[in-house]
Amino acid sequence: MTQTASAAAKFPPPAPSRFSESGSLAQDLVEAYLAVRSETERRAAPLSAEDQLIQSMPDASPAKWHRAHTTWFFEQFLLGEHCAGYQPFHPDYAFLFNSYYVSAGPRHARHRRGDLTRPAAADITAYRRHVDAAVVKFFRSAEHDTLMRITPLVEVGLNHEQQHQELMFTDILHAFAQNPIPPAYDPAWQFPASTRKGEDWLTLNEGIYAIGHAEESFHFDNEKPAHRALVGPVKLARNLVTNAEWLAFMQDGGYSNATLWLMDGFAAASKEQWQAPFYWREIDGQWHIMTLAGLKPVDPAAAVCHVSYYEADAFARWSGKHLPTEMEWEVAARADQLNDAFGIVWQWTRSAYSPYPGYRAIEGALGEYNGKFMVNQLVLRGSSLATPEGHSRVTYRNFFYPHHRWQFTGLRLADYSV
Ligand SMILES: [Fe+2]
Repeated sequence: MTQTASAAAKFPPPAPSRFSESGSLAQDLVEAYLAVRSETERRAAPLSAEDQLIQSMPDASPAKWHRAHTTWFFEQFLLGEHCAGYQPFHPDYAFLFNSYYVSAGPRHARHRRGDLTRPAAADITAYRRHVDAAVVKFFRSAEHDTLMRITPLVEVGLNHEQQHQELMFTDILHAFAQNPIPPAYDPAWQFPASTRKGEDWLTLNEGIYAIGHAEESFHFDNEKPAHRALVGPVKLARNLVTNAEWLAFMQDGGYSNATLWLMDGFAAASKEQWQAPFYWREIDGQWHIMTLAGLKPVDPAAAVCHVSYYEADAFARWSGKHLPTEMEWEVAARADQLNDAFGIVWQWTRSAYSPYPGYRAIEGALGEYNGKFMVNQLVLRGSSLATPEGHSRVTYRNFFYPHHRWQFTGLRLADYSV
């Protein structure tokens, strides 16, 4: 028993809604595990071995690496710690496929993941099958008490893999966008249509509101402790900012007007020559955007996507509005009053990614999951078109650096003139 195992037992508590405490717990675990694992393979299926190798920038990882790393997570933290007699599939894979867990040992350089022509994609498929068979066998043979103890860890592993499923889309899109004859991941894929219902603005009256995850169901540690916060008065835009609105910002010189921008933001925009959202290209006077279906005309009615925090902040200033805080977003989303809170674009908030009052990272390797990133990043709320089914929550805190653009990121506005 290591620090990791004891930490895993506390992180987070079991989820009674998903895994029953009846005799079918083993079967519930098997089904949940295989469902998530097969979704990863479904997402990888359209990708050739060459597609799976590419790392088009340091922030993106090869699809093959995502498939292997998520497998290593179960091998390292579940089988390695809890399954007596388990032998790792390959002695070098822990080094190759550990991401950032210092406690779990040395690891391959993050920006060199695309150099790994070997192991081949087919080897990773064999690795996944080996670990899947071992995990299923373990679930089916373990004592009920053991299953109860490892359930929280399995939940973390499954949610971790779902996070990488989203990254598989964002990362392959970035790679395909570098190709002068941009390929389609799925020619039939369509950007989700926005919802329009209700008034344009939702008023939140001043009050003390519940924030954070208060239940026992699955959550990441950064969603706790639940606490109370003063919110409002404020109006939140019920709708996501659209491409048409963004085009108006562009046509008004938004990208070149330094007074609209944070200093770091304008420096990034100037250095990188930003003139439109990431993946936008002007062809014969018409804006196009690189999507999972290839290069498509920009739809004015669709939500703007692939904008950085810096751009979102400048747009808000140009609009005479602001970005909401994550607390304001959560209060409005809890009331189910925001159109497209989930499923199209993650929404930038102006809240720094910092710990909730009283937060402490758990001990052991899994304490590295979230806590050590709580500086210099901004919180995004909601979920995106790439987020897997069942992975969204009103308390979910995503986070990226303010210059990041390759995720499916957009925004909605806040207005304090109430
Ligand atoms: Fe990971």
